[in-house]
This record gives sequence, structure tokens and C-alpha cells, in this order.
Amino acid sequence: MNTIGNGSILVTGAAGQLGAVGRTVTGLLLNRGLPVRAMVRREDDRAAALRAAGAEVVVGDLLEPAEVYRVVSGCRRVYFGMSVSPGYLEATVTMAAVAREVGVDVLVNMSQMTVSQMSTQNTTPSPQQRQHWLSEQALAWSGLPVVTIRPTVFLEGFFLPLTGPSVRGRGRIELPFGHGKTNPVAAADVARVVAAVLAEPEPHLGRIYELTGPRSQDMHGIAGEYSDALNREVTYSDIAPDDWERELKKAGLPEHLIRHLMTMADLNRAGRYDRLADGVARVTGRPAMSVREFVSLHAEEFAARRPSNKTVNASM
Ligand SMILES: NC(=O)c1ccc[n+]([C@@H]2O[C@H](COP(=O)([O-])OP(=O)(O)OC[C@H]3O[C@@H](n4cnc5c(N)ncnc54)[C@H](OP(=O)(O)O)[C@@H]3O)[C@@H](O)[C@H]2O)c1
Repeated sequence: MNTIGNGSILVTGAAGQLGAVGRTVTGLLLNRGLPVRAMVRREDDRAAALRAAGAEVVVGDLLEPAEVYRVVSGCRRVYFGMSVSPGYLEATVTMAAVAREVGVDVLVNMSQMTVSQMSTQNTTPSPQQRQHWLSEQALAWSGLPVVTIRPTVFLEGFFLPLTGPSVRGRGRIELPFGHGKTNPVAAADVARVVAAVLAEPEPHLGRIYELTGPRSQDMHGIAGEYSDALNREVTYSDIAPDDWERELKKAGLPEHLIRHLMTMADLNRAGRYDRLADGVARVTGRPAMSVREFVSLHAEEFAARRPSNKTVNASM
């Protein structure tokens, strides 16, 4: 196994769900023969799988400075990302304070593409987007060698859990996205970008990478890609935001996440997710995955079943 100066590459939020960024980044770095310290919140099957894959697994809480210090110590390259949650800004600033003290060669920060549209005069009501915007500012003030990753909405973390049940049950994508265009990106592609930067940080230091899929289109266009991939008709139904919010509440999603999702829906309706960026191809040399390719890869999870609308497990 190669060594990276002194120590391993730290990947936070490494447990994740299948397809989550930290978990995929860990696998990609290990495949390159690089040493990875995978940070998880608790010992469980996911931690065991990371260990079995060859990662050094460390348990810690990103909101506990002493634990972050212990986890970062000995690593010169860090990927920082965690679940959408109220403590995100605190965790980022804690990581920045520790990284300054320990000294790192690169901190790859997961952010969101909406930050590109934000300023002091123009924020959004999403508590998560505001925290990403502030986190980016704090990291800029820190003077750390940062690389910023700004993806648009994920296929794995959003479209799979939030359209899967209605596509399986009724052959419909049901979202309050109006006629706005959107261009989701696969978290697998986002992870490829992060892994490429961590493997060779130097040319990327100080850069901001905006990441989207290959085509911006309205939800009827997205439904058409689902239909092509699944070889059956999938249509788009523009539902009322209030109905969607009720569904999200019924599914037990946390308030912070619901407020974020409702803002995303508003921004989608306003055309603010009509985006096209070439970060995936620029960093990895391979184009981003299309919706059709993604749905084909996950065809079983979208396969028609008896009607059900229960499983909502967005990680965002
Ligand atoms: N989903 C999207 O559409 C989208 C789009 C653009 C950007 N993003 C950004 O992507 C990031 C989320 O990426 P993801 O989906 O790969 O992550 P994720 O799977 O939702 O979360 C990664 C891990 O963070 C861990 N975690 C949460 N709180 C923690 C804490 N206090 N200490 C230590 N670990 C903690 C969780 O551990 P447990 O599993 O044990 O709880 C989880 O496994 C966020 O920054 C989000 O804003 C998401």
C-alpha cells in the first residue's frame, strides 16, 4: 500500500448509506492502493464492511472537538462531509480549527451548488444551504488549503428514495417541482471527483468544482429517461408542495431536512436548479452519468411492485 507523506487519508461520514459519498470515496481510494482512515459514528455492520475492505476504521463524533482532534491527527489529507443536520456549521468550524492545529495538505469540503447563487444579500430559507454558505466562508477565512465540491441534487440521496416508491407503485414521479428544469448528479460521480482530488490534491488546491449531470431538463424529460431505462411508461405528476410536506412529515423526516427539501422544491419551481457544469468530466476525465444510466443501474429498485408509498429515507 502507498503512503501519503505521513499517514492516511481521512474520510469522514464514511459509513453512510450504500451509494453515499464518504463510503464510495473510501472504496475508490482503497482500490487505488491508498491508505484510508474511515471515520464513522458507531461500530456497526457498515463499520465492519469498511474494515473488511481494508480501511482503518475510527469511531468519533464530528461535534466533539477532542474526538475530531484524535481522528485527524496523523492524516494530511481530509474529506469532510456528513449528513444534512442542524450541527453542520459547528462541525465544519470544529474541523477547520483542528485541521489548522494539526496541519493538513488538503481539506476537501462537501458543499452544495446552491451556494454559488448565494450572497449576504441573497440567501435561501434552507437551514442547510445557509450552513454550507457560512461553512465555505469560515473555511476561506481559515487559510487552510481547501478544495470545494458543490454538487447539485443527488440521484442516490434524493431521486432514488423520494421517487422510488411512487415509480414502483404507480409509474409516476410525484414531486412539487413545477415546470422547472433540473440536472441531478450521481453521488457515485461526486465520489469519483473527491477521490481524484484526494489522490493528487496539488493541482486542485483553492478550486471550487460545481457538479451536475449531463442534461438540464424539466421533470417530464426526467420521467422520459426513467421510461427509457425501465422500458415502461413513467410520467411526472406535479403535486402540491403542502401535500409533499405532509408526506415527508408522515415519513418521520427531521424538521431540518424537511425545511431543506421544501426550499429545494421552491427553488426547482423557480428554475434555480436549471444548471449545467462540467466538474465531473474536468476532474475525472469521464462524463457524468445520465438519469437514464442511473435508473438502468438501479432498475431493480425502481421495478414495478404492488402499490406502496411508505419507504422514504432521504439522506440528502
Ligand atoms: N443528497 C443530495 O442531494 C446532496 C446534494 C448536494 C450536496 N449534498 C451534500 O452531501 C453531504 C451528504 O453526503 P452523503 O449523502 O454522502 O452523506 P450521508 O450519507 O447523509 O452522511 C454521511 C455520514 O455522516 C455521518 N454523521 C452524521 N452526523 C455525524 C456526526 N456528528 N459525527 C460523525 N459522523 C456523522 C452519518 O453517520 P450515521 O450513518 O451513523 O448516522 C452518515 O453516515 C451533505 O453535505 C449535503 O449537503 C447532498
